[in-house]
Amino acid sequence: MIESESENLEDIVTVKTGEIAEFENRLRPTLLRDYIGQTNIKSNLSISIAASKKRNDPLDHVLLHGPPGLGKTTLAHIIANEAGVNIKVTSGPALEKQGDVASIISNLDEHDILFIDEIHRLKPVVEEVLYTAMEDYGIDIIIGKGPSARSMRINLPKFTLIGATTKLSSISAPMRSRFGNIFKLQFYDESDVKDIIMRSAKILNCDIDPNLAGYLAKSCRQTPRIANRLLKRVRDYADVKNNSKIEASVLQASLDSIGIDSLGLDHMDREMLSLIIQKFKGGPVGLSTLAAAISEEQNTIEDIYEPFLIQIGFLERTSRGRIATERAYEHLGFGLSL
Ligand code: ADE
Repeated sequence: MIESESENLEDIVTVKTGEIAEFENRLRPTLLRDYIGQTNIKSNLSISIAASKKRNDPLDHVLLHGPPGLGKTTLAHIIANEAGVNIKVTSGPALEKQGDVASIISNLDEHDILFIDEIHRLKPVVEEVLYTAMEDYGIDIIIGKGPSARSMRINLPKFTLIGATTKLSSISAPMRSRFGNIFKLQFYDESDVKDIIMRSAKILNCDIDPNLAGYLAKSCRQTPRIANRLLKRVRDYADVKNNSKIEASVLQASLDSIGIDSLGLDHMDREMLSLIIQKFKGGPVGLSTLAAAISEEQNTIEDIYEPFLIQIGFLERTSRGRIATERAYEHLGFGLSL
């Protein structure tokens, strides 16, 4: 039987059309044309949005996956803005009961968007009720008990589900198959990160030379969220120590002070790689052993640290465990001692 609503439905945020700029961090673009990078995703989305508007249909459900900080949430808000609909924002763990899903979706207007972040963390019972909601815009509830129990269908507005996840592999096959659009966000190339830094600097009223923005881009792990964070730290440093003027020495000193190196590795990345190299002779070392050795959650290592280290070729994930590569040895100043 369908369960009633959970207490934490208050966690759900509704954003009305046109309110996106106020709700979101002001550095986040609100239109596809202002969104830098992910060219292929943008062009596919703009076609899907235009087609759904032309037919007056809801947009097909969209699944966005990729490492954290690459812009999944930003894209979800842009989609709503471009489609001219409202977006309700929640996350997998916040939806505790089937009734939560029924209640949120019934309160949407036709074509509105429900955004579920961390969709890989949905409970199976909640996921199950989403299947019919996504496919038939309906939910079946059982009324009564025993022999007199009967099923009743609740019709729902024709909505669009946007799911975001850092872990595509944890999304079940039936769930995945219900998304008409599946997009993988890629790490950004350096020139896109530089453009994002220049755009954000303008919004923040902060003067940075394009060459220095290019230099800063090298330390941003190819990730816009990190680019914006580092830009703010550099701005703080310049405001306090150099009359707000960002110069090469200020940039370098502020990155040094927060422990970010020339490739954007932080203390934790270096500790993890050094440990694999020194304690485990370069690997392979299993995830659980590694997690225990650096006192970090396995999920954090897998979802936050590893994707970038793999992307830049410092780490390999093999069936026998993690291996530090020659590049990692070189960057950290270890002679290759395999
Ligand atoms: N800010 C964060 N991500 C961005 C992106 N992809 N384009 C422009 N600005 C951004």
